[in-house]
Amino acid sequence: MKNHGNEVSLVTGGAGFIGSHVVDHLLSMNHKVIALDDLSGGFERNVNKNAIFVKGSILDNQVLAEILIPTRLIMFFTWPLMPLRD
Ligand SMILES: NC(=O)c1ccc[n+]([C@@H]2O[C@H](COP(=O)([O-])OP(=O)(O)OC[C@H]3O[C@@H](n4cnc5c(N)ncnc54)[C@H](O)[C@@H]3O)[C@@H](O)[C@H]2O)c1
Repeated sequence: MKNHGNEVSLVTGGAGFIGSHVVDHLLSMNHKVIALDDLSGGFERNVNKNAIFVKGSILDNQVLAEILIPTRLIMFFTWPLMPLRD
């Protein structure tokens, strides 16, 4: 998981237990990290200050459209599982 310049890694559920540790680990490897979390279960205080925290849902297409543009790596740690959509 080498950093490739300005590319960004996205961690969904980044304010949760596992996601926040993954954010820390990616930052320690010099990744630029976006932590996406709707705070339905997690806490903003869990998110490393060196990450870009985005409060929003993985189900929100507008949020995703903005943050997926520079994203190269996506790690998915949201819980509970997202509801099925039509
Ligand atoms: N904790 C464990 O021991 C463990 C072990 C194996 C697997 N897992 C899996 O890892 C994942 C994360 O577990 P965890 O313990 O970190 O859970 P957690 O509840 O601490 O974190 C989940 C995060 O997802 C966020 N979230 C929920 N719905 C969201 C949405 N629609 N959009 C954005 N964010 C959303 C919550 O606010 C929360 O911060 C789960 O899928 C879990 O099954 C956990």
